[in-house]
Amino acid sequence: MTNSSERTSPEAIQKLKEEAAESAAALIEDGMVVGLGSGSTAKLVVDAIGKRVKNGLRVIGIPTSEKTATQARKLNIPLATLAQHPQIHLALDGADEVELSTLNLIKGGGGNLLREKLVAIASQRFVVVVDERKLVDQLGATFSVPVEVVPFGWQSTEQRVKKLGANPKLRSQSNGETYITDGGHYILDCAFGPIASPSTLATNLDATVGVVEHGLFIGMTSAVVVGKPDGIKLLNPPVRA
Ligand code: A5P
Repeated sequence: MTNSSERTSPEAIQKLKEEAAESAAALIEDGMVVGLGSGSTAKLVVDAIGKRVKNGLRVIGIPTSEKTATQARKLNIPLATLAQHPQIHLALDGADEVELSTLNLIKGGGGNLLREKLVAIASQRFVVVVDERKLVDQLGATFSVPVEVVPFGWQSTEQRVKKLGANPKLRSQSNGETYITDGGHYILDCAFGPIASPSTLATNLDATVGVVEHGLFIGMTSAVVVGKPDGIKLLNPPVRA
């Protein structure tokens, strides 16, 4: 019998992520154009895709970050751009929080939310890959919403975001310098606390001048592959009337 600390050890979490990543990569069919996510879980998905490519799978990957592109090239996964393939069959990506009742997400902990959202919205299916720690009853309870902003006058944008109820913090790198996204923008990590209506907040952020994009992914998830100690679980979104 395993105790709870064994279940939550870094090794145990890594194993759950690897199992979920393998399951997600198995969803890819030969000839598909596939969005390649970013972050530590998506990295494992890309590893798993690399193995399948080595065994003959034909696929074209659309990476959501420079880091993922570099990893995919090393694994000989053929790559193209979103411009070359504006329609993607399947995108596989991680998430920071998954709201259980809706499968709405917070993403962007790794700073790649803009390209991740562009790839997700262009995909026929957007499948999220997580270990069970990411499942929450309400978005925002444990994680801030990353909000990508234009560097020009970002302090002014920050004031507008504050008025939406956030406590924003400009993201910095470990060396203290301001974090700059692949798109050349800054990120405000916005602690809102539990978010009563993520869709309303998303609409308000969308309407905020200076905000390029935000990490609330509303109504976009096709399915979630969850790594759990008792096996892989597939979550489907609620049926919308
Ligand atoms: C990257 O910008 C993010 O959206 C990641 O997908 C998200 O932060 C999950 O990352 P991990 O798999 O590393 O937890």
